[in-house]
Amino acid sequence: MTGGSGPVTLPRHVAIIMDGNGRWATQRGLPRVEGHRKGVEALRRTLKAAREIGIEIVTVYSFSSENWSRPPTEVSALMGLLKRFIRNDLAELHEAKVRVRIAGERNDLAPDIRALLTEAEALTAANTGQTLIVAFNYGSRQEIAAAARRLAEEVAAGRRDPASITPETLEAGLSTAGIPDPDLIIRTSGEMRLSNFMMWQAAYSELVFQPILWPDYGRDALMEALAEYARRERRYGGLSSAAGA
Ligand code: IPE
Ligand code: IPE
Ligand code: MG
Repeated sequence: MTGGSGPVTLPRHVAIIMDGNGRWATQRGLPRVEGHRKGVEALRRTLKAAREIGIEIVTVYSFSSENWSRPPTEVSALMGLLKRFIRNDLAELHEAKVRVRIAGERNDLAPDIRALLTEAEALTAANTGQTLIVAFNYGSRQEIAAAARRLAEEVAAGRRDPASITPETLEAGLSTAGIPDPDLIIRTSGEMRLSNFMMWQAAYSELVFQPILWPDYGRDALMEALAEYARRERRYGGLSSAAGA
């Protein structure tokens, strides 16, 4: 896929590990929750920029399966921010023809949040613009284990031959079924790890780590990440075009 002008290689699917809210707040002597609030503003800016640039699919990691281990006040603030984000921004996302999908374990979430997530998906299901995947209460190991469990149940019920299990059949049980793998995974705040994010889907993703803290993120930082992506050469185990015949 090429960009609007020039030979710019634009990723189809950009996934973002939005990290550094707490540090942003601490650096300013503010409570961590304030960083999360500013993080929602950064999310709005970044999603708008991604739509303008023409990114087809954006995934944002907003709460991990392991984030429950934070203090209850922080956890409940994050739940509140998700609710507020959906209530305030769903209409605008729908207006912009964004199709919203949620990845993650919903059964552990409060009924009002579950209802909002279902509403967001249902309202925007037929939209044909950008796809926005919100990874909330998401963990990649949990996701892979759930997909494996489903296949095991089919085998146990006599409905599946174990020999039929392939990467494709497992993939069909992931929350990203039908969505192309992320071409680019961005993590902010300088941390260089995946933290249980899309480990299956990241097999051939380009990883870009940016030192900027998430509340400061926006169009400029996204453009930098996209420029870095455009400089990468994806080989998928093959040979570089220069090394070829
Ligand atoms: C990312 O910011 C948001 C979530 C994990 C929910 P952090 O809260 O992890 O911020 P730091 O890493 O402590 O700075
Ligand atoms: C990963 O960030 C989760 C999200 C950004 C939502 P964390 O801040 O939770 O990750 P660790 O603990 O630094 O690995
Ligand atoms: Mg963090």
